[in-house]
Order: sequence, then structure tokens, then C-alpha cells
Amino acid sequence: MKSLLVMSGKGGVGKTTVAVNLSVALSKKYKVGLLDVDIHGPNVPKMLGLGGKTLQYANGRIMPVSYNKNLDVVSMAFLLEREDTPIVWRGPLKHKAIAQFLNDVEWEKRDFLVVDLPPGTGDEAISIAQLVKKPAEAIIVSTPQEVALLDVKKCIGFARSLNVKVLGLIENMSGDIFGSGNVKKVADNMHIPFLGSIPMDRKIAISGDTGKPIAEGGKGEFSKIVERVITLGGQENTD
Ligand SMILES: Nc1ncnc2c1ncn2[C@@H]1O[C@H](COP(=O)(O)OP(=O)(O)OP(=O)(O)O)[C@@H](O)[C@H]1O
Ligand SMILES: [Mg+2]
Repeated sequence: MKSLLVMSGKGGVGKTTVAVNLSVALSKKYKVGLLDVDIHGPNVPKMLGLGGKTLQYANGRIMPVSYNKNLDVVSMAFLLEREDTPIVWRGPLKHKAIAQFLNDVEWEKRDFLVVDLPPGTGDEAISIAQLVKKPAEAIIVSTPQEVALLDVKKCIGFARSLNVKVLGLIENMSGDIFGSGNVKKVADNMHIPFLGSIPMDRKIAISGDTGKPIAEGGKGEFSKIVERVITLGGQENTD
């Protein structure tokens, strides 16, 4: 099993959108686990149309929520009774929760574990990097704006400081509003693979809000990104 950590320097650049759609696209061919460790803002269930579902326990194990036969999901949101309940936890408690999400779920039989992280260089990313089974690689998402690019470089440095290899960069919200091409430039300058560019598209925003991932349609940007992830050695046979 290969772990793919979806990270970003800045918030709101589309990590969850990427994590969800990448997982859906991967699940067309592979067995995938999707772990939402954004404890303060767990958006994965909503974007997959799984809002209101809860985690079940059986024989001391956590049973993930199935999205389809190849994609299982675990999120803090499945433990909250109400969507608008805030979680007020410090680092050690978050670390414990993340350890349980990793250890008490049978992720092993999957080809990929995709992890959706909160933005920046916080506790969750440090915990995941320490606790996740190796090999783990980072997929870093950024918009093309200048302000975001500085944070990409910071995020690359952060991943490396955690001994997590950067698999590649993704440009999201590419187009007239934020520009395009800047993330590829950073990737080229830093000799990191560029995984692809996703346009700013109202359909993507709506698909997130309605819980109907755009990658279900196949053949889009996300399936191209998946091909690149696989070509770069993202897939490991677990048999
Ligand atoms: N390419 C896109 N085109 C249009 N809207 C998008 C695109 N990518 C993401 N969005 C929308 O932008 C918002 C933020 O995206 P998302 O929640 O995936 O970001 P995030 O990086 O996970 O945020 P956070 O840092 O809060 O976890 C969402 O409403 C999402 O639907
Ligand atoms: Mg998010």
C-alpha cells in the first residue's frame, strides 16, 4: 500500500477537492482508502455525499464508510453528531485520534491510502508523517497566485523535513482569475514532477457542494493526474 498525503501551504486551495476526486478516479482501478485528518474542518464526507453517516465498530476495529466497492472513507466528521460542532483539541489528542484512524482500520488490503490534510505545517501533518506506514509521498496543491507560490515552497520544505518525498505538484483553480502556469514553473525550478492543472470551473465547486465528485465522469483532469501518479511509481502491489 502506498500512502499519498495531499498537502498545501495555504488554506482553501482545493486539497479536499483533489483528495476526493483523486480517490474516486483511483477507485476505478484500485482499492483505495481515504482518510480525512482535517480534524477541525472535515469536509471529505460532504464532498462525497456521505454526510450523516457514522463509523461502526466491530471486534475492536473501526469499520470505514464505503463510498463504492473500492473506496472506503474515515473522517472525524463521521464521529460528530452535528455537522456544526467545533472540535477543540490540542496536539496530543489529535495525535491519538490520528493513530487510531490509522491503526484501528484495516487499510492494509488497499493499494492506496489517500490522506486529506488541513493546510499548512501543523500537528496533523507531523502526526501523519510519523504514524503512516511507509512509503508515503506528498502531493502538494496550490493555486497559481504569487501569494500561494511562496507557501508551496514552504510546504515542499516541510514535507522534506518530515522525510516525506514530494511526488509532485498540482495547480488548481487555473484560469483567468488566478492565472495559470506558475505552479509548473515552481515544479520545474525545484526539479519536482508537475502532476497537472485543474481549471477554475463552477462545475467543480457545485460537484463539491452536492457531494457528486466530478471525477465520476472519468476522462477529465483527475484521470490524467492519476495516470501521472501511477507512472511516477505511485502504485505498489500489495498481494
Ligand atoms: N478547480 C476548482 N474550481 C472551482 N471551485 C473549486 C475548485 N477547486 C476547489 N473549488 C472549491 O473551492 C472551495 C475550497 O476547496 P477545498 O475545500 O477543496 O480546499 P481545501 O484546500 O481543502 O480547503 P481547506 O484548507 O479549508 O481544507 C470548495 O468550495 C471547492 O468546491
Ligand atoms: Mg480541506
